[in-house]
Amino acid sequence: MAEKKYNEIQYLDRNESQYGPSPKCYEYLKHATIDDLSWYSRDFAKGVKSSLSKRIANDFNIDERQVILSYGSEDLLKQIIHYYLDRKEKILIPKEAWWYYKKVAYEVGGFNVEYPMYIGEKDGLKTYMYDVDRMIEIYTRERPRIVLIASPNNPTGNRIPKEELRRFLDACRGAIVMIDEAYWGFGSTENDYVKEYIDEFPNLVICRTFSKYYALAGARIGFAFAGKNLEELINFSVRYLGYNKMSEKLGEIALDDSEYYERVTKLMQEDKEYFYKEFNAMEGFTAYKSYANFMLVDMPQHIRKDLDKYLKERNLLIKFLNEEAFKTETRITLGTREQNYHLMECIKDFLTGK
Ligand SMILES: Cc1ncc(COP(=O)(O)O)c(C=O)c1O
Repeated sequence: MAEKKYNEIQYLDRNESQYGPSPKCYEYLKHATIDDLSWYSRDFAKGVKSSLSKRIANDFNIDERQVILSYGSEDLLKQIIHYYLDRKEKILIPKEAWWYYKKVAYEVGGFNVEYPMYIGEKDGLKTYMYDVDRMIEIYTRERPRIVLIASPNNPTGNRIPKEELRRFLDACRGAIVMIDEAYWGFGSTENDYVKEYIDEFPNLVICRTFSKYYALAGARIGFAFAGKNLEELINFSVRYLGYNKMSEKLGEIALDDSEYYERVTKLMQEDKEYFYKEFNAMEGFTAYKSYANFMLVDMPQHIRKDLDKYLKERNLLIKFLNEEAFKTETRITLGTREQNYHLMECIKDFLTGK
């Protein structure tokens, strides 16, 4: 039986990092200077948005002008929709999606059209999958102004394979396409396709964030790559007085410490394997394949309420989804090894009535 371990709430329900960022980020914060805190950035006068955008542009071999900076990818999504979507225009989004996708179009009087995913199998695990034929069919019928793809997607954890993505992008050149890659890094750290696709698809914007893989959600910093037709979005989003200098510096430090993030990701990957094995051996449970820092787990409807209560009494929070596409699923954010094993022990105790 699991001992009562935590005196404070463990938030395994928000897709935040429980390991935290590179220790070098804390070191930097201890030594912040007047330049960091009291002065505006001088970078705009140097012809770039910041040293971070310059750094990212170099890393990806993309023109710095095509790198957008933001307060996280929520901000990017908002800017893209607010800039391009007019009243009564449509955005095409996944049915199985992050709740904010479903709300954002209404902020400007637009509305949603949804495309469904289907459930298949990969590497012996159940997984949601993008149905590109269906997406093209719906796109062609509805002609939305903006199309949204999330890869990996929240809360399903699946991603769209690169060639399938190309096929879809090729079919919807008439729309602005936003790929939300907030959960990039946990399944693969491949970046090669970014320049290739940004060059090939001028209406494409690929959005990233430092919140998830780099564990800097509190610093609120994200970035995007914009295709060559999106000059107006780039101008709209530019901040002449700069962004948050400390957040940018933290971002640069994080990018420099790939070794730390690879180590954490390896631990999380091992824990995902542990969750797959344990959950899929329990009657009525299905753990879906995840390329993210969370996992979707289906479980019997009748235990949800009591399990939620049982876990809350032990200071463990996981997200019991309750929306149109997900009535029996929970989304569990991967925690530290200790948190993950403790959570699993508690769930087993609950099931065996301990
Ligand atoms: C799919 C998805 N995109 C974007 C975000 C926003 O992340 P941030 O604004 O911290 O970059 C989230 C937050 O959880 C998310 O789940």
